[in-house]
Amino acid sequence: MKPDCFEPIEMASRDEIEALQVQRLRQTLAHAYENVAPWRAKCQQRGVHPADVRRTADLAAFPFTEKSDLRDHYPFGLMAVPRDRLARVHGSSGSTGKPIVVGYTAADIATWARLMARSIHAAGVRPGMMVHVAYGYGLFTGGLGAHYGAERLGCTVIPMSGGMTERQVQLIDDFRPDAIMVTPSYMLALLDGFRKAGLAPDATSLRFGIFGAEPWTEAMRAEIEGAFALDATDIYGLSEVMGPGVAQECVETKDGLHIWEDHFLPEIVDPDTGAPLADGDKGELVFTSLTKEAFPVIRYRTRDLTRLLPGTARPGMRRMEKVTGRSDDMIILRGVNLFPSQIEELLLKSSWCNGHYQLELTRQGRMDSLLVKAEARAESWDGSGLDQHAEVLIRHIKATIGVSVGVAITPPGTLERSSGKAKRVYDRRGS
Ligand code: DLL
Repeated sequence: MKPDCFEPIEMASRDEIEALQVQRLRQTLAHAYENVAPWRAKCQQRGVHPADVRRTADLAAFPFTEKSDLRDHYPFGLMAVPRDRLARVHGSSGSTGKPIVVGYTAADIATWARLMARSIHAAGVRPGMMVHVAYGYGLFTGGLGAHYGAERLGCTVIPMSGGMTERQVQLIDDFRPDAIMVTPSYMLALLDGFRKAGLAPDATSLRFGIFGAEPWTEAMRAEIEGAFALDATDIYGLSEVMGPGVAQECVETKDGLHIWEDHFLPEIVDPDTGAPLADGDKGELVFTSLTKEAFPVIRYRTRDLTRLLPGTARPGMRRMEKVTGRSDDMIILRGVNLFPSQIEELLLKSSWCNGHYQLELTRQGRMDSLLVKAEARAESWDGSGLDQHAEVLIRHIKATIGVSVGVAITPPGTLERSSGKAKRVYDRRGS
């Protein structure tokens, strides 16, 4: 079956995409070299020049861009256009220290809206449908990114933002939207909300869910799709590169996220050495923007760990495997590396857990311990058999991850809910 796409370029061949990438890469590098003084200085130090680039592989000679570069040149030092050409800024709303700031020209906003429309379409949504946006609006790119994309696709948008769970539930019940865009963890909080209101979650009008901004597992997909009777797809992006809509899973295959490679060039590098890795190898994802005007990013190190796979539903665009963690989120517990998503997968395999969980790290003397706090499902909560459930999980974690942890099963509704990205790890080890 030929997929029906938002734009014909989505079905371009690999050769066509690669030819476009080389042409756009050369333009982007020249634009950044001419207009972003700190980046030009880095290139000069390395003895590289945009005119040397003939193939995409030549990019590997250029320096990386890191989050610290954005902090060092806060707020507008890395913009490639004068401040008065910025139509909008976004950034991280980080609770401590200075946020990072990114900028967009009017043309960048239009490109972003188009790529989001493409993503929302790939998720199964069609013009005329109604989309409930529960990503946060503000400096965070989630809300406004989803909003402009859904409008661009020709949908009716409900600009709800995050939080006020009861009200969200009421409006979904009243307005009957076809699709929802929200973090997967907040979708679980909405699930609680539906049950609390006495509404059957599988009888809502929602048919498509577009979930991202944080790692989530196949087990979580099964949980959400089962509870709500909708098709759940994954959307990926980051402020530094654009916002949501850098890559999107197609509803017909649900096999990882197609990177919109006509606008972003991905690389995978060794997270320790920065050396380029081959397609199929797992490592750190690095992005170069190919069409951005205000804030071109060259070889931006995302810290996200994944691998590149050949295209399927969009044959010319490579896929990235679901991001299971960031190198920053990796927990090293008594010499064993583990990611919260590995625990999530095991938790959701056990029938008693509702998907809300926290990981608490403590230290006694020189010994680190991890306590998995996991909430029980309301349906199965009667206070009995908890020790047995906990023991089974402890054994599973030991057998699959190779580390001994503690497990505390908490009553339904007791772990803190976030209205956006969930905080999974609580590190109480002190310094
Ligand atoms: O989270 C943009 C976004 C909004 C994406 C809404 C999708 C939906 P930042 O706040 O800059 O931007 O955070 C970017 O979030 O480097 C990943 O670590 C993580 N992330 C984003 N999407 C996914 C995903 C937005 N689908 C950081 N799976 C990224 C796993 C994700 N992690």
